[in-house]
Amino acid sequence: MDQDSWDERCQDEGLLWTAEPNRFLVEAIDGLEPGKALDLAGGEGRNAVWLAQQGWEVEVVDWSDVALDKGRELARRAGVTVWFTREDLRQWWPPGESYDLVVIAYLHIPYMERHGVWRAAAGAVKRGGRLVVIGHDRDNLDKGYGGPQQFDVLYSVEELVGVVAEHLEVIRAEQVIRSVETDGGGRQAIDNIVVAEWK
Ligand SMILES: C[S@@+](CC[C@H](N)C(=O)[O-])C[C@H]1O[C@@H](n2cnc3c(N)ncnc32)[C@H](O)[C@@H]1O
Repeated sequence: MDQDSWDERCQDEGLLWTAEPNRFLVEAIDGLEPGKALDLAGGEGRNAVWLAQQGWEVEVVDWSDVALDKGRELARRAGVTVWFTREDLRQWWPPGESYDLVVIAYLHIPYMERHGVWRAAAGAVKRGGRLVVIGHDRDNLDKGYGGPQQFDVLYSVEELVGVVAEHLEVIRAEQVIRSVETDGGGRQAIDNIVVAEWK
């Protein structure tokens, strides 16, 4: 999806996703001392706002003005400060070794582009810091519910680990099941998560 499509998708009233943080992210940072966090493709800010509520100093980078405006509003209502910046992650690189936590949740772009974003994200983690990447698993296409339906924007845990492990030590890498309530009843989505730290 291009930038205009993301703007259109976020245009409707209300949030495209939930205002609740992603539960795998909540698990992945359990016990970490809050510091400086970067949320790449942070969209409407649900994860960033939650992180800020936990004491993190958070920056969101996303290319959708509409999503970012919703994120600003979510932060305002929650009474927290989050810095929102509009950039195309295919052409923008965060400063190296600068963040205690870097998060990417559900960024689905083609192969070469996502590898560039993952490398930049891993390089932005500072000594003692952590990278958390969560996404729709490639297996979700045939066996799970929802998510992107284009094969080329989906990836496996192995692909993600292959890139992240160039810079960081992977401490968790697996498929995870996310329960989804639909009008037709409960369904299961297959996600994946990779958590990595400085070697
Ligand atoms: C599925 S949403 C996920 C939002 C958020 N991470 C979350 O979990 O709630 C994907 C986000 O990726 C953003 N995005 C997609 N391609 C991008 C790019 N090239 N540069 C910056 N943001 C991008 C979209 O604008 C959208 O907000």
